[in-house]
Amino acid sequence: MCGIVGYTGQADVGGILVSGLRRLEYRGYDSAGVALYADGDSELTVVKTSGKIVDLEASMQAELPESKPFSSMGIGHTRWATHGAPTQINAHPHSSDNKEIAVVHNGIIENYADLKAHLIADGCTFNSETDSEVIAHLVQQCYQGDLRAAVTAAVKKLTGTYGIAVISTKHPGTIVAARSGSPIVVGLQDDETIVASDVSAIVSRTKQVIFLNDGDIVTATGGDVEITSMSSTTVTRESTLIDWDVDEIEKGGYDHFMLKEIHEQPAAIATGLRGRLDETEGTVRLGGLRMTPMDMARVPRMILAACGTSYYAGMVGKYYFEDFAGIPADIQQAAEFRYRNPIIEPNACMVAISQSGETADTLAAVREGLMKGATVLGICNVVGSTIARETGRGVYLHAGPEIGVASTKAFSCQVTVLAEMAIMFGRTRRLSASVGREMVRELARLPDIAAAVLEREAEIKVIAEKYAAAEDAFFIGRGYMFPAALEGALKLKEISYMHAEGYHAAELKHGPIALLDEDVPVIVPVPDLPDKEKTIGNMQECRARKSPVIAIATEGDKEIDAYCDDVIRVPRCQEFIAPIPVVIAEQLFAYYVAKARGCEIDQPRNLAKSVTVE
Ligand code: G6P
Repeated sequence: MCGIVGYTGQADVGGILVSGLRRLEYRGYDSAGVALYADGDSELTVVKTSGKIVDLEASMQAELPESKPFSSMGIGHTRWATHGAPTQINAHPHSSDNKEIAVVHNGIIENYADLKAHLIADGCTFNSETDSEVIAHLVQQCYQGDLRAAVTAAVKKLTGTYGIAVISTKHPGTIVAARSGSPIVVGLQDDETIVASDVSAIVSRTKQVIFLNDGDIVTATGGDVEITSMSSTTVTRESTLIDWDVDEIEKGGYDHFMLKEIHEQPAAIATGLRGRLDETEGTVRLGGLRMTPMDMARVPRMILAACGTSYYAGMVGKYYFEDFAGIPADIQQAAEFRYRNPIIEPNACMVAISQSGETADTLAAVREGLMKGATVLGICNVVGSTIARETGRGVYLHAGPEIGVASTKAFSCQVTVLAEMAIMFGRTRRLSASVGREMVRELARLPDIAAAVLEREAEIKVIAEKYAAAEDAFFIGRGYMFPAALEGALKLKEISYMHAEGYHAAELKHGPIALLDEDVPVIVPVPDLPDKEKTIGNMQECRARKSPVIAIATEGDKEIDAYCDDVIRVPRCQEFIAPIPVVIAEQLFAYYVAKARGCEIDQPRNLAKSVTVE
């Protein structure tokens, strides 16, 4: 979703903003812009484009006079359209009437229509259709010589969510940024400061960062940083050292980030298992949960909440908590959870699953859970993200940055962590040491199982290319393969734009079967596990309607060949592990279909990596 970069220091501001924005491209965007200041100018220089960062760079080259010494500070933005089409005018930064102040904004200002009406009545002229432009006019209106005071006064009038960065010609070398519900990170260096919505835009210049809290306002001048509250008192925030390098956000020889991240899964899963498995006791140790065995034994119900791919990981998690621990578990679409006054009984435990840790609906679900007295655990990948901080307990994936918009390695790591959690809870309840040991041993095999699927890449590519021209596809599965089918369909539609639907294998005949014919392939995860025969029955139903059937089946299972047109093989494993190799196979399938269709795999149209609006 939208991205912010701001720089104050002596280096080449325009170049730093553009390279920072490029690091944020993965989040998904449709227009971009920068605001710069040249010493002595009475107006800021703003360059915007409705295209990509390369287009912005070209516009900057064409529009910025070479002779002009742009220096000391600037702000840049990638916009993912919410209010108003992705046009050049609607792109950020937005300026005040006097062109002295420029603002970039992530989030949504819910009361913008009211504010806009008042500002227009006060004589302001609006250029864009965005909600964000009100902020620039408000800051101008509140300005009485102190930029921080003006921003503080302006944000007090806002309802909704914002991460903003503001500059003014009257304050060369200064950036004021503020957050409420949309992240702002401040990168610290001796004589420069970078403000951004995401550490990816900062890490090439510094790894020492401060994550702002909601209500914080930061004033950065060169290397000096002061954080104040809404009541203008100084607040102290600890800085954090980012533990990954810039090469982790490079493609490393792969054509796409998505393919790189698919290949990183064995290593990422191994990281998520390291130091956590206790084979002797047949359990798992997750200190970050901060729960005693007694706390866990008392939990009457698990509530899992998430969106997108994380939601499907949560669905697998639901099965784990029920199967391993005998705890009733629900998976909730986070947006639905927050708006329907959910019942949370005493001692209930909630698990919020979010790769980014910033998804607005998941965050709101967390807040609802905390408000209703649940123990709320986070499963996040991004260290220091809002959900990780607000839950204050949980498990990090440590999967490394995930840049491809379509989530891949986060899914397998989320499922791995959920299995670990459920085993840990299970051992405080009905899971025996001997079964626990068996499960722990099986988990330890996961990196090798994932690697074995990747070895099938060339075969999966051939099958994907065979079906790449289809316009519709179905994924069906039962048991643990049901969430795997849903995730397979999501992956395919996200990146290849092929219409794909995931269904429970038994549900197909209740409607969707009417759509099957020889042009509609059905992909069926059907490993050699207890429900296999029933799924084979459903495969036959599809073939009877002439649909080509692609099975994702166990290595060495020859029986399946008679019921399908093509087979993708995955290693034999226990049932609870199976969603991971199956989904890895589906990721490769989706990737090669999308590639054959010439799609923009890492940044699919209309999608965003981190969905910070409702
Ligand atoms: C977006 C992304 C998906 C992701 C979902 C949830 O829709 O495109 O890949 O699964 O958000 O994101 P989260 O960061 O909360 O896991």
